[in-house]
Formats: sequence, C-alpha cells, structure tokens
Amino acid sequence: MTEPAQKKILEVENLKVRFSSEQGSVFPVDDVSFSLNPGEVLGIVGESGCGKTLTALSCLNLLPFPGVIETGEVWFNGDDVLKLNEKKLRHLRGAKIAMVFQESMTALNPVYRIGSQLSSIISMNRKVSKKQAKALALDYLTAMGIPGAEQRLHDFPHQLSGGMRQRVLIALALACEPQILIADEPTTALDVTTQAFILDKIRGIQASADMATILVSHDLGVVAEFCHRVIVMYCGRIIEKASIQKIFTEPRHPYTVGLLNSIPQVRQKVLHRLQIIEGAVPNLHDLSSGCRFANRCSQAQDRCFREEPFLSGSGGHEVACFYPREVQ
Ligand SMILES: Nc1ncnc2c1ncn2[C@@H]1O[C@H](COP(=O)(O)OP(=O)(O)O)[C@@H](O)[C@H]1O
Ligand SMILES: [Mg+2]
Repeated sequence: MTEPAQKKILEVENLKVRFSSEQGSVFPVDDVSFSLNPGEVLGIVGESGCGKTLTALSCLNLLPFPGVIETGEVWFNGDDVLKLNEKKLRHLRGAKIAMVFQESMTALNPVYRIGSQLSSIISMNRKVSKKQAKALALDYLTAMGIPGAEQRLHDFPHQLSGGMRQRVLIALALACEPQILIADEPTTALDVTTQAFILDKIRGIQASADMATILVSHDLGVVAEFCHRVIVMYCGRIIEKASIQKIFTEPRHPYTVGLLNSIPQVRQKVLHRLQIIEGAVPNLHDLSSGCRFANRCSQAQDRCFREEPFLSGSGGHEVACFYPREVQ
C-alpha cells in the first residue's frame, strides 16, 4: 500500500519574477517550484544575487518595485497568495506567514518603543488581552537572550545595537505564532557566537511549535545545522534539491560541490586551503542559451554551452546538470 501524500503547507509552482528597465527585462527568479511540509525546515542557499530573497518575498506577494510576478502560483491553505486582495494579504503577512529580514533598522518603527511595537503586533495577531500581550512580549525578548529585557521594552529602536534589534525582529515574528516563518539571512550581520545562539533559539521554538520554516542563507554551513531539506539556487534557477543528508554526502551539481568545498571544516586534522568557486554569477542581461553555471564549471562540456539542463531525478533528489557527479 502506498502512503498517502503528505499535505503541503506551501506550494510554489513555476514562479517567474520580472524586472523591466530601459536595458530590457530580466528574470531573477526563473521557473522556480518547491513545496514545504508542515513542521519542515527548508533551506534556500546560493551565492548573493541568485534570487533567494526575491523567491522568499514572492511567497508573501511582496516584491520591491518594479518587480512583478510574470507567472506562477503560491498555494497556502487553499489560496493562491498571488491572487489575494490587499485585505487578505494583510491578514496573511505576519499572522500566518511571518518574515524576518536581514535589515533590522528599516523593519522597526523608529518612533515607537520596542515594547509597544511588540505588544501591539501580538494583540493584532493573537486573541490575548493587552496585559497578556505585554507579558508575551517580555517572554519572547527574554527567550531571544536580550539582557535586561524588561528595561529594553522601554527603549526606542535606535537605542539598541544592530544585534539586539535583530533579536527583537525575530521575537516579533515568533510571537505572532505564524504557521510559516521565513527567515532571510536572519543572522548574517551578527558575530558567529550570537548567530549560533539565535539559530538555536529559533530552532527550539520552531520544533516545539512544529512551525514550518524557510531559512534563506548564502552559507551552506548554517543550513546544515538547521534544515531538513535544501534547495540550491543559481542565477534564478533551482539547480539541486535534496535532503540535507544527501546534499552533504552525495552532492551532484558541480556548483553544490563548490559551495560545500568552501565551508571551513573545523574537525579536519590537516588544515586544507578552502576552495572558492572561480568567477562570478553572470549578469542577468547577458545570459547565453546554455547552462548558467557553464562558464565557471570545471566539468562543462560543449553541450553545456549550447543547451540548458532542467531539474530531474528521483527519490526527492533532483539536479539540473547534464554531467552530474556520479554517486556510488
Ligand atoms: N529592486 C530591484 N531592482 C532590479 N533588480 C533587482 C532588484 N532586486 C533584486 N534584483 C535583481 O535580482 C537578483 C536577485 O536578487 P535577490 O533575490 O535579492 O538575490 P539574493 O537574495 O540571492 O542575494 C539581483 O542580483 C538583481 O539582479
Ligand atoms: Mg538576499
């Protein structure tokens, strides 16, 4: 007997984002499809400029001007998010799907105290009294390791360091008890120790609330610690999808192999020189017809410069490469 397919909490299908300017149109997210299971933590990785943030923002129908969604569907609870009206979208953002951005200064309102921002958002999104909202605000700040959290409630955003503001933002997102948390490089601006602490706290709350999570990061090391499954993006495309274990033990795309080789291995006895992937992500205005990674790929052959490979595979491991790394 085959098991019934697990109901997905989010399904993104054939998403394509367009930016048009005088130089023409570019598609920084190009035919991206993925899904998220309830309680799952999905990582989106790739170098800067690969389309990770735009993919995340599209899930909330929140693209920056002049970006538009050219085609695609984003299914959440039986609704296509891309077709919801403004009122329904406002209800969705924060309460159902919360997002933590990397830029903490712009995400908080400079003229309101931290405590009142937290409790008013909690009151808006949860059925609690004012007093309970205040108590919850304090609980979440404390859980995020903010020293003197009670006094901090009276501070304005500019009185906090960047790291503290980032913790407040994460507390804000989690306190709304969203069904999905999207964290876009939530700890990139922080030092390594704080990063580990905060990721650990998010993971604790994520696991106890069984909250589906998308973690966006340029760092495969961070994703390894946190995620069940990973999608690897390159230049607007998904080039590999697999469980975290498969990505680490049997990476198939040369780009994924390159990303893995650039992670420092602390436990390694001999210190090897870290390998970097030569070259840079191509300009979206001058993409050729072949594989977008071909000009940086040591395995590339003639066909790779002529034709573009698309995702294929089985057992939940898919790769877009004509000559993927063989697995034993
Ligand atoms: N506001 C914008 N206007 C024009 N192009 C943009 C804008 N935002 C992003 N892009 C284009 O989309 C690409 C992908 O952006 P983004 O999703 O932010 O990448 P990532 O999060 O992976 O670093 C960028 O390299 C850029 O070419
Ligand atoms: Mg980004």
